[in-house]
Amino acid sequence: MRTSPDKKILRVLGGEPVWPPPIWVMRQAGRYLPEYREVRARAGSFLDLCYTPELAVEVTLQPIRRYGFDAAILFSDILVVPHALGQGVQFVEGEGPRLEALDGMADLQRLSEDLSHERLAPVYETLDRLTRALPAETTLLGFCGAPWTVASYMVAGKGTPDQAPARLAAYRDPDFFQALIDRLVRASIEYLIRQIDAGAEAVQIFESFGAALPPALFEPLSLRPISQVVGGLKAARPHAKVIVFVRGGGQHLARFAEAGIGDALALDWTLDPAVILPTLPPSLATQGNLDPLALVAGGEPLRKGIDAILAAVRGRPHIFNLGHGILPETPPEHVAELVDRVRRNEDR
Ligand code: CP3
Repeated sequence: MRTSPDKKILRVLGGEPVWPPPIWVMRQAGRYLPEYREVRARAGSFLDLCYTPELAVEVTLQPIRRYGFDAAILFSDILVVPHALGQGVQFVEGEGPRLEALDGMADLQRLSEDLSHERLAPVYETLDRLTRALPAETTLLGFCGAPWTVASYMVAGKGTPDQAPARLAAYRDPDFFQALIDRLVRASIEYLIRQIDAGAEAVQIFESFGAALPPALFEPLSLRPISQVVGGLKAARPHAKVIVFVRGGGQHLARFAEAGIGDALALDWTLDPAVILPTLPPSLATQGNLDPLALVAGGEPLRKGIDAILAAVRGRPHIFNLGHGILPETPPEHVAELVDRVRRNEDR
């Protein structure tokens, strides 16, 4: 797909400062929207929702209709990748994801070497339908989880505080853990290539659990695999744009920038853009980084949070976003206020 000049997010990802900054919100389709909860209730299981193009298209479009965000993100989940490698994955109401935990090399060998594109066909079809359903100015984003974040679910079988089971496996059984990471690197490249071919114009890699890694494990388990995924995707599809989100990656961001990993680096909400941006190359795009709880709270904390980010990113290529996913308890009208305040900055 050719870069359209009116897609602001693609212009920013190309290194151009755009004012006011374009905006979308991580996890923008979700339970904070009553219209999402309505479709979710009709869908049956969460995976059925991800794998039914008609419904996945509908929930992807909901936040675009309501707020006119500059990007739509494919409705799916990072855990469809383990599912398409043959691992049992379920989403249990009120508890979250549950997977058949991998306990070592023998379990890994029982999974498939390659992704089942048959299982993922509805995801690609959702993207294809979205290319026709979206307004001309809206950028279509695909995504996947970073290998470490996905591996931590595959090993623990669920979300865990500080990803202790996966960290322990990485220390005790490094051959198994590296083989798992390598499998996910290959699967992620394949998956992102298919997403680009189906119509995604850029992709985001979610390293949600970067903060759990000690310094000695950060390079082999996060930085290197992400670099391999970005490199593999770009070798195959040079025009594909990539946003890298490493939650807790603060002290490592300069290394991502130096190594040229990603067209944009997303900042989590703990980082002060006024401090971090001057350390990054001026033409490197950034994204973020409002505290999702400031959006829940609304009022003065919301307005101050927005204005501080806007002041720090002026003149730089930046995409306004939260510093992590939107929370289910967020009042929808606060999101409207956020979009309005960012966009009204035209002449300030
Ligand atoms: O709008 C969007 O951003 C697109 C859809 C999207 C979902 N998950 C839908 C979803 C995206 C990009 C994700 C990514 C994802 N999934 C991440 C990385 C981003 C992040 O927030 O750190 C992670 C760690 C997951 C794993 C995951 N999926 C968990 C832990 C849960 C359960 C917790 C919860 O919020 O319920 C999910 C389920 C999930 N994925 C929901 C949604 C809308 C809620 C489930 C439901 O509606 O029943």
